Amino acid sequence: MSTETITPSTISTKRITTQTLIEMKESGIPIAMLTAYDYTHARILDHAGIDVLLVGDSASNVMAGHETTLPITLDQMIYHAQCVIRGVQHALVTVDLPFGSYQGDSKRALQSAIRVMKESGAHSVKLEGGEAVAPTIERILSAGIPVMGHLGLTPQSIYRFGTYRARAKDKKEADQLLNDALLLQKAGCFAIVLEKIPAALAKEVTEMLRIPTIGIGAGPGCDGQVLVTHDALGLTKDFNPRFVRHYAELSDLMTDAIKAYVNDVRMRDFPNESESY
Ligand code: KIV
Repeated sequence: MSTETITPSTISTKRITTQTLIEMKESGIPIAMLTAYDYTHARILDHAGIDVLLVGDSASNVMAGHETTLPITLDQMIYHAQCVIRGVQHALVTVDLPFGSYQGDSKRALQSAIRVMKESGAHSVKLEGGEAVAPTIERILSAGIPVMGHLGLTPQSIYRFGTYRARAKDKKEADQLLNDALLLQKAGCFAIVLEKIPAALAKEVTEMLRIPTIGIGAGPGCDGQVLVTHDALGLTKDFNPRFVRHYAELSDLMTDAIKAYVNDVRMRDFPNESESY
């Protein structure tokens, strides 16, 4: 293990590993994670200093236009991960195992995780669920593949929940989540995403665990935060839950730019002489 003290400036110069994230938690340095699905975005986010890039199955929504994350396939996730990996030099890349590629069959789950790692060059996988997936996590880890957990609102179970409302607001579900978090840590997860749960519960989980928690709609008490990049950049204009902060209004910026292009083409202003051969 490294004896070097970790600081935000040493982090920016090194390749992030699962161990770095645990050291960041121990040193109280918050972890910044965003989603990426393609080379161009991954390259920009990586250069800007993001710690973890998640090739999320939210690609099913923001890239493919599906209503849920369920339709995206393992082949499609591997394609997105291959594109992201080519743009990354610094960040740890985690890839979501998509719906149907790991539930209920730990042998199949291991095969899916191995395909992701071998065919994309990613550094780790993420999967949703608590107690039910703990043996699967152990099996994937036995092949040397790091696993990130995901508790709270787990979008692959949307048809069981019936709604995208916050989870674990009652004591029974909160106790179950605390228990699941401990089980995932025991199974060997290197971090856990906590999605859309009360801030006080997320803080309690974070203080209880040795491994980092990464929150989305889980308040400021987590060890890190994650957003879908398209939401953070204001590209998904119609999606405005309270946990999203817009760091840019790219939808407006792009609309204005495209309108200007259309106008220039119509007016025969583009291309001009210096833009021609
Ligand atoms: O797929 C995704 O984007 C995610 C985040 C919401 C954590 O799982």
